[in-house]
Amino acid sequence: MGIVISRLQKKDLREAQKLLRDTILDFDFFPLRERREDARDDAAGMAKNLSSRDWDFLVAKSDGRIVGLFTAYMRKSTYWIDWIVTSREARRSGVATALMREGEKLARRKSRSMMGDVAKRNRASIALLNKTGFRKVALYKDYVHGRYEYFFEKKLR
Ligand SMILES: CC(C)(COP(=O)(O)OP(=O)(O)OC[C@H]1O[C@@H](n2cnc3c(N)ncnc32)[C@H](O)[C@@H]1OP(=O)(O)O)[C@@H](O)C(=O)NCCC(=O)NCCS
Repeated sequence: MGIVISRLQKKDLREAQKLLRDTILDFDFFPLRERREDARDDAAGMAKNLSSRDWDFLVAKSDGRIVGLFTAYMRKSTYWIDWIVTSREARRSGVATALMREGEKLARRKSRSMMGDVAKRNRASIALLNKTGFRKVALYKDYVHGRYEYFFEKKLR
């Protein structure tokens, strides 16, 4: 798939928010009530943080349409991935890997360490993190909504 990765522009915010919302609502491992809450809050967070210096938003486009999204932020000298998402139709064609590669370039300018957390049952994302060089460092047993989450880290220096 031919994709172009760029920073999210304000004009594309709605399309990116829709991809994020649809993806969260589509999860089969959280109750619907929690998914609705997360979809609403995380889409609103994108709008709020778009111009923040602490945040990075990357999109992957194919034929002008957003097919992937990477969002991350700096907190206490660590670069945290918030979301990495590929639209259903575009999965397993390297979109997330390409976004991760570009995200890592941004992370290297700011931090020695890149972290991501992922629901224990999210096999696709865990496989992606393993494949892109992250290592599992912790299991958090009472994360948001009491979820079991793995924390992954990639040391950058
Ligand atoms: C996780 C996700 C971002 C992967 O996106 P993608 O663009 O399909 O990933 P890639 O094509 O770059 O795949 C890279 C590797 O990840 C792993 N992988 C991706 N999807 C997988 C799946 N469904 N099952 C097992 N491994 C998977 C594989 O190792 C794959 O390499 P391969 O295709 O050579 O075997 C995508 O499935 C998604 O958007 N899921 C919903 C959102 C989400 O859970 N995000 C992560 C939480 S922040």
